[in-house]
Amino acid sequence: MMKWTNQLASHLNWSGDISNKEEKQQVADQVAGKVRDGDVIGIGSGSTAFLALQAIVQRVKEEGIDVKGIPTSKEAELNCSVLGLPTTTLIDSKPDWGFDGADEVDGEYRLIKGRGGAMLREKLVMASAEKTYILVDQSKIVTRLGEKFAVPVEVDARAIHLVESKLEAFSGVTDIKMRMAEKKDGPVITEGGHVILDVTFDNIDADAEKDLKGIPGVVETGLFAGYPIEILSV
Ligand code: 5RP
Repeated sequence: MMKWTNQLASHLNWSGDISNKEEKQQVADQVAGKVRDGDVIGIGSGSTAFLALQAIVQRVKEEGIDVKGIPTSKEAELNCSVLGLPTTTLIDSKPDWGFDGADEVDGEYRLIKGRGGAMLREKLVMASAEKTYILVDQSKIVTRLGEKFAVPVEVDARAIHLVESKLEAFSGVTDIKMRMAEKKDGPVITEGGHVILDVTFDNIDADAEKDLKGIPGVVETGLFAGYPIEILSV
């Protein structure tokens, strides 16, 4: 093992602060059972996806099967690298299937994602795969989408005033906050170089994802509706 591998692994290990870890581990183990030799798999971001990746890599190593991952974020890329899962990209391969976490899922299988700010790549990988397993513990299942979480909206910083004014007039919006980096005096900057507005809704209507994307300067949103997903929960 190379010099810094252990340090990287411990940093990535979400050391002890994974909420609902037992439930997350159970859904992680469920998805690991779906891996087949030769699969190209979209690798999600966040703590549940990390546990699933660990469980998948364990199977890959124990059974000597050939699996490649398409990571949905730099974090997922690094996890694959540290755990030893070979990766490919959407340019070179199409994912057979994928897995990811979510912040909320409602009864119509609509999701809020993006607490880690990775929704752009997450959505590209999800839209490219025939099926994505969404791994959720009970705390993620809601009766009203937006009940617990704001919807992250990734914005080109040059359009911030324009987007804010459009959002103020947007149906169901009750609050808009720029996401700030913890312990730093500045906004969170996404992998794509954009900022995030966390937008609270009291009602998210059916066209909200499309309508948000129609605002010039909105790069992506954490609303996921109508993608080919299957929910795995305990
Ligand atoms: C990151 C995501 C995550 O999948 C989502 O935030 C869930 O995270 P966790 O599994 O840590 O609860 O969308 O952008």
